[in-house]
Amino acid sequence: MNGIKIRGTGRCVPEKTVTNEDLARIVDTSDEWITTRTGIRTRRHCTTETHTDLCVKAAEDALARAGVSTDEIGACIVATVSPDTLVPSAACCLQSALGLPQDILCFDLNAACTGFLFALHTMECLLNSSPRKYGLVVGAEALSRLIDWEDRGTCILFGDGAGAAVVECREGWPSSPAALGCRGDDALLRVAGPGTGEPPLIHMDGTKVFKFAVETVPQCMDQVLQKAGLSVEDVDFFVFHQANARIIDLAVRKYHIPPEKYYKNIADYGNTSAASIPLVLSELQEQGEVVPGSRVLVVGFGGGLTWGGMLIEFA
Ligand code: COA
Repeated sequence: MNGIKIRGTGRCVPEKTVTNEDLARIVDTSDEWITTRTGIRTRRHCTTETHTDLCVKAAEDALARAGVSTDEIGACIVATVSPDTLVPSAACCLQSALGLPQDILCFDLNAACTGFLFALHTMECLLNSSPRKYGLVVGAEALSRLIDWEDRGTCILFGDGAGAAVVECREGWPSSPAALGCRGDDALLRVAGPGTGEPPLIHMDGTKVFKFAVETVPQCMDQVLQKAGLSVEDVDFFVFHQANARIIDLAVRKYHIPPEKYYKNIADYGNTSAASIPLVLSELQEQGEVVPGSRVLVVGFGGGLTWGGMLIEFA
């Protein structure tokens, strides 16, 4: 199988910034508690923006940075749990807004916070059977719609945003080493759907999810490094799902990763689920921290339970 590389990234976050002090006026919490337990200082919430607006802006940015036109796109995947409508999918809305070709697959993928990684891996498989060489992968969430404002343990964590990547697949490029998995027997993080009769709000056992994340991140990293035949020193940059700064700090400490090789934007955006990883990738590319040839180890985990690691190169 031929591999993919990331050619261009883009992002979009809503205008409205919600501070920890804003939340302390709604629930019994404090800036001090939120900052020390999570590393989050602000998050963005949609007001007038739709989920589709975020996807379109992020995708347009990624296409422009990649120098790829819409008619070169061979598939479009939107990783999300919070689309505007279940049908049409967010990917079909995006296809229509951008004018993507009609003879391609456009679909949504739900793997919660690991969604962007599942989508990258799926895109690699799809592009191997497409005459077009480029794919559009978006991670987008409007999680503010799913917040339970009576639960101080979760309402402080989540934010809205979108990140996008245009990936390229070429004959002879090795497939991206990946370790992805799911365990559907544990609803530690749950959002009810139409079949339940419950309101679609985020419920989470934070302590158990924290433990799961701390155990899972190193496992994913070890598996990917082993598949790639690389050591930590061979990797140019590490990108972690931004769920809690303490989870990232533990991984960084365990692997002795120097500060110039990883990045946190959780203070600004909170946990944006499927958007979190592409938001980081987009900021890194814009800042010149990743350049053509950079090898980036990306690690995610989330509801499902789902998890994944992938070594992805920039073109
Ligand atoms: N403000 C103030 N106090 C709060 C609070 C808030 N926003 N949320 C919870 N608390 C309280 C609890 O009620 C509890 O009080 P008690 O001891 O009197 O019962 C205390 O703080 C400790 O709660 P706990 O849930 O054990 O805190 P924690 O240190 O585990 O931190 C999370 C909570 C959610 C920040 C943390 O568990 C976490 O980040 N989990 C992983 C989340 C995650 O990664 N989710 C996404 C997966 S993609």
